[in-house]
Amino acid sequence: MRIFLDSADTYVISQWAQMGILDGVTTNPTLLSRQTKNPTQLIQEICSLLPNGVISVEVVETEAQAAYKQARAIHDIASNIAVKIPCHKNYYSIIKRLVSEKVRLNITLVFSLTQGLMMSKLGVDYISPFVGRLDDSGKNGIELIRHLCLMKERYQFSTQILAASIRDVDHFAYVITCGADVITLPVEVLEKAVSHSLTDKGIEQFTQDWKKLGIDQFP
Ligand code: E4P
Repeated sequence: MRIFLDSADTYVISQWAQMGILDGVTTNPTLLSRQTKNPTQLIQEICSLLPNGVISVEVVETEAQAAYKQARAIHDIASNIAVKIPCHKNYYSIIKRLVSEKVRLNITLVFSLTQGLMMSKLGVDYISPFVGRLDDSGKNGIELIRHLCLMKERYQFSTQILAASIRDVDHFAYVITCGADVITLPVEVLEKAVSHSLTDKGIEQFTQDWKKLGIDQFP
């Protein structure tokens, strides 16, 4: 399972990239709007922080042809970009065209199994079902991930399921058990996911017990 960081903060991305567990980054217009840097420059920086990772960048044009042109321009920023396009029927024709032009695509704002099926049929690289936002609407986001994973297996689709809008470590654990290909995590969730109070407690106890030996050098 691959892990992406859901962030546009270069400081945070570089910290986690050094730890070797990141396979990519997802950005969106909201995350980019929170940063002070010019978005194009920011994307270039993020792409170079994780040269072997996949960096998702979303189109902001709403008219299909303008979105197509923008998608091509975003794709040209760096070789490790995935262009994010919202899962809306207005974009179906440009999605089809971009797939045929071998532009790596991450279809975002996926909220149903049927949307996921359509995008998988179009042969996009990733679909991003939004777990937390679906939960907020009174539906079960994890159930959607589970159904999408079953669909992928049953129909042997190559499109990867990228679980997004993850709010807590429980979401993360459920997504693992569903068998999703990728998850994108906000840094707050990633931070909690790598820690455990019993690990901290265990380290403390081992350190104290070891000190009792009074040995200066080991081994
Ligand atoms: C994913 O690509 C999105 O950027 C992100 O997961 C959205 O999360 P949110 O619903 O917490 O804004």
